[in-house]
Amino acid sequence: MKVIDFSKTNSLLNSFVREIRDVTIQNDRLRFRRNLERIGEIMAYEISKTLSYKTISVTTPLDIAQASVLDDDIVIATILRAGLPFHHGVLNYFDCAGNAFVSAYRKYKETGHQSFDIHIEYIASPEIDGKTLILTDPMLATGSSMELTYRALLTKGTPKHIHIATIIASKQAIEYCMKSFPESKTTIWAAAIDPELNESSYIVPGIGDAGDLAYGEKS
Ligand code: URA
Repeated sequence: MKVIDFSKTNSLLNSFVREIRDVTIQNDRLRFRRNLERIGEIMAYEISKTLSYKTISVTTPLDIAQASVLDDDIVIATILRAGLPFHHGVLNYFDCAGNAFVSAYRKYKETGHQSFDIHIEYIASPEIDGKTLILTDPMLATGSSMELTYRALLTKGTPKHIHIATIIASKQAIEYCMKSFPESKTTIWAAAIDPELNESSYIVPGIGDAGDLAYGEKS
């Protein structure tokens, strides 16, 4: 399984990651959401280099030109609610893609917020059989929401290839996904891979709660 860690290469993407991590800049929710979206746009472009293309003719005002266009059927899936801005960034480039939404949340077993199960409640997805599935989640903490989302989507068919796109992953989640996704047809794209999780399974140093930072705190 191929794992691409963008933080290993100098690029503008790293400045957007720096901004979403910074507690002061995080106060600007609009900028936070836009940065998640910008990272999604860059990642979509990078993923696009690995897809299949066909050549078609296009009529210009002066002649006929040959153009290479995407030949893969794309479905972009995300986990509500934190995944929305990142998902939209990816969709900004794959503008003809189908879209799938899954709601997954942590159901804590006690008030200390240390142990929890992941519950999937809602799924809205097109058929994904034979298609290229891009699973987007800005924070890949344990990898279990991503795996449950994937399993829920398998009720809609078997994808040709799976791209797991994330902004911050923990090392543990990368290892988990490497074990729980099909080795020969999965690629993981991470803007950064952080070393650990805290006792509440938040990524450290991470960014905090992506959903709250994008949309405000929940009660
Ligand atoms: N979800 C988040 O929003 N942040 C984390 O660090 C882990 C999961």
